[in-house]
Amino acid sequence: MPRSEPAEEEGNLPHVIEKTADPAGVRSPAARLAESRGRPSCMCLDVLGPPRAQRDEVPPPPEQPPLAALPSGWLSHEAAPLELDFGCHRGIFLIGMARQHPGSNFLGIERQPARVARCLAKIGRLAIANAHAVAGEGASSLRGLVPAASVSVLHVSFPDPWPKRRHAQRRLVDAEFLDEARRILRPGGSLRLMTDDAPYFATMCSLTSSGWQEIDWDDGRDYVRTSFEKRFLEQGMLPFRRALQPL
Ligand SMILES: C[S@@+](CC[C@H](N)C(=O)[O-])C[C@H]1O[C@@H](n2cnc3c(N)ncnc32)[C@H](O)[C@@H]1O
Repeated sequence: MPRSEPAEEEGNLPHVIEKTADPAGVRSPAARLAESRGRPSCMCLDVLGPPRAQRDEVPPPPEQPPLAALPSGWLSHEAAPLELDFGCHRGIFLIGMARQHPGSNFLGIERQPARVARCLAKIGRLAIANAHAVAGEGASSLRGLVPAASVSVLHVSFPDPWPKRRHAQRRLVDAEFLDEARRILRPGGSLRLMTDDAPYFATMCSLTSSGWQEIDWDDGRDYVRTSFEKRFLEQGMLPFRRALQPL
């Protein structure tokens, strides 16, 4: 099962992760591993949990409403740069970025309609003109919604890791998704991938080892932290990150 949202998964760390840098105060992978052995882990809970067949059942994705159109004018020639937050959850990053960067438009795509509704309600409440959210599922939502060469930055932060090998084909970032990312990015546009899951990150690196070039993660802009990023940082863990441009 993918992880639940932060508030619902307290004390239930999904994985031991490696770190990409070593600032003071960040615990080493070995320390984290030792620590994880001293408390109930996901694996322990799995052992104590329901029978395997039941555990492996994956709920179907929520029924998706038809893809909604983007706000009018967002795709015109004179439109502000468009950034996509794929899997925007409750909109912390989406809305934070829109407020911080009023010169760009921010579109969240999210498979859970209730979360989309929550984002839209907040966007409406705060009267933010440069943020919007739509329901969409995986690469097909990009195909149905986002024209070619229209996106400046595609953010994919903490996509569900599906850590069991037999579930790996359910991961969002795969060859099909990357083809869509390549199609929708403008010349000079970038894809920013972030995850806490080492095997998933290795797959992301392998899938982008040709046809993409890695660029500096730090591009001089201020980035709002996503909900999951905040949570992992608070626990002393650094996510894996990769910024890429299509070749
Ligand atoms: C682990 S959460 C990360 C949320 C947020 N990006 C962050 O970093 O805090 C993953 C989010 O992606 C959404 N999601 C998962 N698979 C998806 C898919 N195939 N298409 C669209 N959204 C998806 C989930 O519903 C969830 O809100």
